[in-house]
Amino acid sequence: MKHSMIISGVLFAAITSGLAFAESKASNHWLLDVDNDEERFQRIERMFAGFSGAMAEVGNRYQHAYDAVQDGNYELASYHWDKLRSAIELGYLRRPGRAANSKGLFLETAWPELQQQLSSKDSQAIRQSFQQARHACMACHVAEEVAFMNDQPLFRNTAEFK
Ligand code: HEC
Repeated sequence: MKHSMIISGVLFAAITSGLAFAESKASNHWLLDVDNDEERFQRIERMFAGFSGAMAEVGNRYQHAYDAVQDGNYELASYHWDKLRSAIELGYLRRPGRAANSKGLFLETAWPELQQQLSSKDSQAIRQSFQQARHACMACHVAEEVAFMNDQPLFRNTAEFK
């Protein structure tokens, strides 16, 4: 019994000091340490993800914009609406195949409509424009063959204002 405790103690010390050694050798410079640009740029591309990375941000900002409209805080809604546009633009910079529908179904139609209404402070018109934007998001999901995106709380819970 005593023997096995000593042995496991020695084993434990050996393992932890081994881990500490491995840790001290690992570098945090995942770009600087690479010795060729090809691999370096591939790592950067992977890090930014494709269109889904943009859409994860768009989903967040859409919800924040909805909440801000609900609160009557139109400056905040406008802030998020603006950032949401940039996120989509960066999305199709990475995935050019999504550019046509991004612009045609959203950025040149529903997006400016709501952005313009937000400065009008007309709550009825703003709420109506938000609903049109919601439909535009969902229409693009259908057009881009990800219609299943539309069946989730993000869209169900923003179908109307309280
Ligand atoms: C180009 C048309 C297009 C527009 C406009 C668009 N989406 Fe998307 N959305 C997509 C595509 C395509 C995907 C799937 C991405 C993938 O497969 O890489 C997606 C995925 C998503 C996702 C899932 C993201 C994740 O976590 O992976 C959310 C949430 C979303 N969209 C919300 C929205 C909202 C909200 C709007 C409107 C403000 C919007 N989308 C406008 C095409 C669009």
